Amino acid sequence: MAGTGVFADILDGDVYKYYADGEWKNSSSGKSVAIINPTTRKTQYKVQACTQEEVNKVMDSAKTAQKSWAKTPLWKRAELLHKAAAILKEHKAPIAECLVKEIAKPAKDAVTEVVRSGDLVSYTAEEGVRILGEGKFLVSDSFPGNQRTKYCLSSKIPLGVILAIPPFNYPVNLAVSKIAPALIAGNSLVLKPPTQGAVSALHMVHCFHLAGFPKGLISCVTGKGSEIGDFLTMHPGVNCISFTGGDTGIAISKKAGMIPLQMELGGKDACIVLEDADLDLVAANIIKGGFSYSGQRCTAVKVILVMESVADVLVEKVKEKVAKLTVGAPEDDCDITPVVSESSANFIEGLVKDAKEKGAKFCQEYKRDGNLIWPLLLDNVRPDMRIAWEEPFGPVLPVIRINSVEEGIHHCNASNFGLQGCVFTKDVNKAILISDAMETGTVQINSAPARGPDHFPFQGLKDSGIGSQGVTNSINMMTKMKTTVINLPTPSYTMG
Ligand code: G3P
Repeated sequence: MAGTGVFADILDGDVYKYYADGEWKNSSSGKSVAIINPTTRKTQYKVQACTQEEVNKVMDSAKTAQKSWAKTPLWKRAELLHKAAAILKEHKAPIAECLVKEIAKPAKDAVTEVVRSGDLVSYTAEEGVRILGEGKFLVSDSFPGNQRTKYCLSSKIPLGVILAIPPFNYPVNLAVSKIAPALIAGNSLVLKPPTQGAVSALHMVHCFHLAGFPKGLISCVTGKGSEIGDFLTMHPGVNCISFTGGDTGIAISKKAGMIPLQMELGGKDACIVLEDADLDLVAANIIKGGFSYSGQRCTAVKVILVMESVADVLVEKVKEKVAKLTVGAPEDDCDITPVVSESSANFIEGLVKDAKEKGAKFCQEYKRDGNLIWPLLLDNVRPDMRIAWEEPFGPVLPVIRINSVEEGIHHCNASNFGLQGCVFTKDVNKAILISDAMETGTVQINSAPARGPDHFPFQGLKDSGIGSQGVTNSINMMTKMKTTVINLPTPSYTMG
C-alpha cells in the first residue's frame, strides 16, 4: 500500500516528504499542497510546499554530487540503474495505486506504466553503456592544407544538473524517461513532479533511493508552481531542462538561460483516412488512439480527417465501439475515467458547447458527472469550430469529412501543433507521400499515434516541442561533446 512498508519513510503524518541530500524531509515552510482525487474530488494526498531556499540547497547538492558521479565508471552507473529498475517493478502495486488515486488512470494501465518505466530504465542503462563508451577519432590531413599532425579524440561528457519536469498523465514514465538518460550520462537530476502525480513520483524516487544512488544526485522538490516554478526553471544552477506538458513549456523556453532544452508540449494528432483503408482497423485504432486514458495523451488521435465516400461507414463502426466503452472509476479499470481536474472538465465542456452551437452532429448524447465525461464522437465538424484545432485532452473526438487527401494534409499542417499524425491506406506509396507532406514529428502508417516503444525517437514540430526524445536521443541531448587534440611535431606517417 502507498506510504507503507518500504515507503513508510516518505510520509510524515498525512503529508508526503520531499527528497534532498539522500533524505526524506519536511519543508521549513510548514505548508503543504493538496492533491485532489479526480474521481472523488476530495483531497487524497498532501505534499510539501518547498521553499526557494530549499531549492537553492538542492541545486548546491546536485552540483557537488554530479562532480563525483561523472567520475563513477559507466558500468557502475548502469548497475545502479538496473537495480532501481528492478525495485521499481517489484513495487509496482503501491505506485500504481497512487496513479489510480491521483490521476484516475485505469488500474491496469497504471500497472503497465510502472512496468514500462522499469523496462525503460534498464534499456537506458544498456544503451548508455554502448553509446557513451564510443567516441570519435579524426586526423587532420583530411582537411585541405593540413598534414597528419593532429589527432582529435571526441567523447561525450555530462552537462551537469538536469531539471526534469514531467506531466500529470505519465508522472512515473515521463519522469524516468528523463531521469535515466540524465544519470547514465553522468548528470545529476532535480525532479519537479506535477502536483497531480507527485505522490506516484515520490514513490518512484524512493526506488532510486533504495537502489543506493549517491546523496544529492537525485532530488525531488514538490510545491506550488507560483512559488518555485519560475525559480527552478530560471535557476543558474540548472544546465538543461527536460519538460513535458502544455503551453507552460513555451513560457519556460523564453525565460530559460543559454542551456539545452528538451520540450514536448502536446499535439492535435490527425488521423487521415483514405477510401481504400481497412475501416475495421481504422475504427479499432481510433478507439485506442482517441479514448485510451480518456484522451489525456499528447499522442491521442485528436481529429479524424476522413474521405467523404467512406465517412458514413467509418462513423458507424466507431459509434458501435464507443457504445462498448466502459465509463466509471479507475479502480474498476473502466475505459473512460474522470479527467484530471474540474478545470480540465470545464475546458472540455466549453469545446463541446462551441461545437454544438456551430452545428456539429453529436453521435452520442453529451454527458458529464463531476470530472467524468462520457466518450463523445462529433461528426460534421468544420474548421470554424474550436474542437477542430484545440486539444481537449479528454474523451471527445471530432470528425471532419474531407473531399481530397490534400484537404486533409492542409488541415493537419495548418495546426500550431506538429507532434504525430497517422494515415490509413493500403497503398504504401501514397502513405509515404502523405507522410512526407505532413508537418509532424512522426507519422504512423496504419496505426494510431503513440510514443512507444520508448526507444523510438519522439519529437514534435512547431508548438509541439523542441528536441527529440527516445532513449538514444535523450542520452545524447543530455551530454556535450568534448575533444582533446594531440598535436605532433611532425606528420605521423613520416617514419619507416
Ligand atoms: O507525452 C507523451 C504522452 O502524452 C503520450 O505517450 O506513450 O501514450 O503515446 P504515449
